[in-house]
Amino acid sequence: MIKISNAKRVTLFENYQNQIEIDPKLDRTLVSFQANKKENFYRWFKYKEGFSKRLVKYFLFKYHPSPGHILDPFAGVGSTLFAARELNWDTTGIELLPVGVFALESRIVSEAVNLDKFKQEIDSFKTNFHLVQNNIPKKISHISITKGAFSKETENYLNCFLNYCSNIYNDKIKRIFKFAAFSILEEISFTRKDGQYLRWDYRANKSWGKTKFNKGRIYPFIESINKKLIQLYQDLKFGNGNDLFTQFEDNKSHSKKLNILQGSSLKLMPKFNNDFFDFIMTSPPYCNRYDYTRTYALELIFLGYNDEQVKNLRQEMLSCTVENKEKIKILKNIYEKLNRTDVFNKVVSIYESNEAMQEVNNVLKLLNDRKLLNNSNIPRMVKNYFLEMAFIIFEMYRVLKKGGYSVMVNDNVRYGGQEIPVDLILSNFAVNFGFELEKIWTLPVGKGNSSQQMGNHGRSELRKCVYVWRKPE
Ligand SMILES: C[S@@+](CC[C@H](N)C(=O)[O-])C[C@H]1O[C@@H](n2cnc3c(N)ncnc32)[C@H](O)[C@@H]1O
Repeated sequence: MIKISNAKRVTLFENYQNQIEIDPKLDRTLVSFQANKKENFYRWFKYKEGFSKRLVKYFLFKYHPSPGHILDPFAGVGSTLFAARELNWDTTGIELLPVGVFALESRIVSEAVNLDKFKQEIDSFKTNFHLVQNNIPKKISHISITKGAFSKETENYLNCFLNYCSNIYNDKIKRIFKFAAFSILEEISFTRKDGQYLRWDYRANKSWGKTKFNKGRIYPFIESINKKLIQLYQDLKFGNGNDLFTQFEDNKSHSKKLNILQGSSLKLMPKFNNDFFDFIMTSPPYCNRYDYTRTYALELIFLGYNDEQVKNLRQEMLSCTVENKEKIKILKNIYEKLNRTDVFNKVVSIYESNEAMQEVNNVLKLLNDRKLLNNSNIPRMVKNYFLEMAFIIFEMYRVLKKGGYSVMVNDNVRYGGQEIPVDLILSNFAVNFGFELEKIWTLPVGKGNSSQQMGNHGRSELRKCVYVWRKPE
């Protein structure tokens, strides 16, 4: 029997328990992409790791009803930015993966398209597009993890479609057509995005599949692309007709420019000015081993990324997969170049002096030494996840105006049976950097569950939370 202490985590819980509160209005659909499925524009590209536009508006109305400048350092497909812009906010986002950036920029391009011309192009596509069987110039180049993702026929269609797009004269329409194909890759393929991996349907005939997985209907290319093009056209034509918040919206909000930076927040945030943003709303990758570069591999190859480039993106991501190597030297370098070694030292020292953090690191090491974790790199991932998040939180504090709020969506995790209270540890870092912990809003949990407690017997459901931190005046 190994003796594992959770005393430091319990102490942290006791310190913050008065700020942990269930918000009955927060449900899984609001905090995930689910609620976007019925929202015009937001439903175009299914980014399963996204949150909903309603969540963004809910927190803006709650904490900062008048517009200002909002930052999302993990922008994904831009839910924060688009939702805030509808309320007349200035917006800045950072996103590492070209997947989110392509989706977001396509949406911006689509806003300026001539709708009549777009409709004509759709009609002309319906009559003029034909599948050519031979000598199709190849537009799709696979990487090892995507080979065989489409049937031969679907891949021919894709290549023909992309060739057809190259001949569309109007650049905006060309972009929207390409985006339409980008958005249907999953449903026309043998794969399903499944958190850590791409899951393969049995029809792909991959011999290594342990259990027979049936993803359901695999859509024919033509049916799927026609449906997507019509959806894009209709949403552009009818706008936000289904938005309950419409009465609050300023019709001129589209004149606001959406500012998106592609790259890593760890590198870009240190270059921002002090006390600049009025509000931060974000959801970093969770500490849950989800590998976006694998689940979005089809979209990455569609955008022309090769094996090497995909691996580089994986390493640049915030450490949330077991493959991520530590970035401490890179971070040191960034701060040295900016003549801010003091900041680097401060963040590392706050991380190292966090007792609950050290308890988690020690416990995971112990479990690993006894071979009780199902992957030996979990301790490295957890350690680096929190260290990198400490840098992000420091920067969030620095760039926020006094009196400004930061809202973060994240889930707690469990490894080797040990609960890692991501909400408490990150909030503790935030407080050490100067934030006030306003609230840890949690989602309502199943009946009779003790997720509000820490250190209780049994396996409680892990807290799913939205943390609100405030920079004092
Ligand atoms: C949970 S998702 C955010 C989704 C977003 N809220 C939305 O609704 O679309 C986290 C995002 O962080 C991005 N990301 C991961 N590491 C990053 C880094 N170092 N810098 C910037 N973005 C990063 C991922 O690509 C992913 O899109």
